[in-house]
Amino acid sequence: MEQRPLGTSGLSVSVFGLGTMTFGDETDEATSHEILDRYLEAGGRFLDTADVYTRGVSEEIIGRWLGSRSGIHDVVIATKARFPMSDDPVDRGTGRAYLTRALDASLSRLGVEVIDLYQMHAWDPATPLEETLETLNGFVEAGKIRAIGVSNYLGWHLERAVTMTHRRGWAPIASLQPQYSLLGREIELDSMPLCLDQSIGMLPWSPLGGGWLSGKYSRDMRPTGDTRLGDDPNRGIEAYDFRNTEHTWRVLEVVEDIAESREVTMSQVALNWVRQRPGISSVLLGVRTIAQLDDNLGALSWELSDDEMRRLTEVSAPGVPLYPHGFLESYAGVDYWERLGTRVESPLG
Ligand SMILES: NC(=O)c1ccc[n+]([C@@H]2O[C@H](COP(=O)([O-])OP(=O)(O)OC[C@H]3O[C@@H](n4cnc5c(N)ncnc54)[C@H](OP(=O)(O)O)[C@@H]3O)[C@@H](O)[C@H]2O)c1
Repeated sequence: MEQRPLGTSGLSVSVFGLGTMTFGDETDEATSHEILDRYLEAGGRFLDTADVYTRGVSEEIIGRWLGSRSGIHDVVIATKARFPMSDDPVDRGTGRAYLTRALDASLSRLGVEVIDLYQMHAWDPATPLEETLETLNGFVEAGKIRAIGVSNYLGWHLERAVTMTHRRGWAPIASLQPQYSLLGREIELDSMPLCLDQSIGMLPWSPLGGGWLSGKYSRDMRPTGDTRLGDDPNRGIEAYDFRNTEHTWRVLEVVEDIAESREVTMSQVALNWVRQRPGISSVLLGVRTIAQLDDNLGALSWELSDDEMRRLTEVSAPGVPLYPHGFLESYAGVDYWERLGTRVESPLG
């Protein structure tokens, strides 16, 4: 499987990373281990987990898998900290005392001596950024982690972190893990141009929009059955109503059209669009069955043409906020979308 650089960290990651958010929850341990085996067999070498996934169980499942398979030395492991690990308010955040405990707990659950990529799961408004970054730099110096990543940061959060690490000579931010798919392109408005400018690797999560882009949900038919939305009647219906928009169905029509003409699945079309966007280090796959994994890995055997990329990019283009993006485009000659290969109508005409 193709390996891509993870920002300027010196690490390389597989272009399809294996997300493990469902491990220990929707996906039991035996199936999780089969999925890990199949991913490894296909040449995949990048796993993404988090302490909070099933409150530590996802990390433990990976740890037991690593322990039970001999000769796995070259898998790059990413985990995260920040969200509550218990009801105790001290068990969360990105402050020094908590992160020090959280990292040791993750190392122990995973059964490893060093974590390749340690990510802050989201911006933490309660902790000075300086404290977080100094702590993380200390982890790198102590040899407990190899690189630092962040997730769910706004553009200005990321810019502050990049500038602070540069000024202080601390370990740089290697990656951003943002939500990104044909149904969620908000990051193109701020953090993605910054990542391109600063060579920060992007690790998109929910590349299928939580399963929507596989085509499994239908217009005005609320989900039932064995799907992420059908599983949870309350949260699932809320999530369905949120995405049940004309924009979604227009995007899905084009995805379906391309899938039919190429004789591939809609999931493969959607995953390849993310894989072929600029600045992507690794697309994080989320699967709950081997069949889904096999389908998704099939995307690696073909590529979207320039024309197919253009059609998908056009139909899924996010609206441009009137200000400042529209203003800059109309009155200041800023070709905001140029580097992202997207031209959209300026709302100012
Ligand atoms: N940093 C963060 O805040 C954050 C947040 C979310 C996720 N993540 C990471 O990103 C990874 C992927 O996220 P995600 O699970 O939301 O990704 P996703 O690809 O958008 O959705 C995955 C879901 O889509 C369905 N699916 C996948 N492949 C399919 C196929 N070929 N055909 C039909 N359905 C298919 C499955 O759901 P059903 O079968 O159940 O419907 C699967 O659980 C996670 O495991 C995690 O590592 C990070």
